[in-house]
Amino acid sequence: MKQKKLLYAGKAKSVYHTDVKGKLIVEFRDDITAFDGGKKDVLKNKGSYNAEVSAFFFEYLGKNGVKTHFVSMIDSRHMVVRELQMIPLEVIVRNVAAGSIVRNYPFKEGTKLDPPVIVIDYKDDSRHDPMLNDDLIVALKLATPAELRKIKKAALEINRLLFDLLAAQGITLVDFKIEFGRQGKTICLGDEISMDSMRLWDKKSGESLDKDVYRFEKGDVMATYNRVAQRITSSSKKR
Ligand SMILES: Nc1ncnc2c1ncn2[C@@H]1O[C@H](COP(=O)(O)OP(=O)(O)O)[C@@H](O)[C@H]1O
Ligand SMILES: [Mg+2]
Repeated sequence: MKQKKLLYAGKAKSVYHTDVKGKLIVEFRDDITAFDGGKKDVLKNKGSYNAEVSAFFFEYLGKNGVKTHFVSMIDSRHMVVRELQMIPLEVIVRNVAAGSIVRNYPFKEGTKLDPPVIVIDYKDDSRHDPMLNDDLIVALKLATPAELRKIKKAALEINRLLFDLLAAQGITLVDFKIEFGRQGKTICLGDEISMDSMRLWDKKSGESLDKDVYRFEKGDVMATYNRVAQRITSSSKKR
């Protein structure tokens, strides 16, 4: 497969056309950003750690019946995916209260959310990703009511699968953000699931194992990403 012209360069990944119809190459770059792009850095090998973990999760989810865009890895940071018509929603699933939900609502950090809470934001940097509700999503024609039901069902199933896999590695899946797209009539999981898009706490120490280490300068970001990537990908719970 040949990489062709750039389709889109985002904050952390670049997406390229290929010589194969319907297939794209996603390059996981070493760029890291936080606070709406207010904090920016380049951290060597970050892209590879995130790509590796994303590929591992996509394969695990695929084996467990979740439809994803993942096709294969070319090298440690280049992923072949099926081209999706992306739906501009950031679907966030929360198992424990942390981050914006604690800042914006009277939750105490660390409170267990059972059943999990799904929050859907509008993926629009210029509007700072405002929170949506079902009526707004339908009124804005971002998704049909039937698509929205499929998205929420898939998000909860993905949460259940990831929560169990990570728990077996001594990691609490506090929350994560995913994006979906359409391939014809099918709703498919796209984008990434990585340390940039999950909030992970070590079960024993409570230590952050994700981008919060970068956001709040809690320690050596790449040492954490390296360690957590190894912990996750060494999981035998692939089924
Ligand atoms: N399978 C896919 N087909 C088309 N676009 C995709 C696919 N998976 C992810 N994308 C899009 O590619 C971009 C990835 O780059 P990223 O750096 O995350 O961008 P952003 O800054 O917009 O979040 C995202 O906009 C994402 O929606
Ligand atoms: Mg992104």
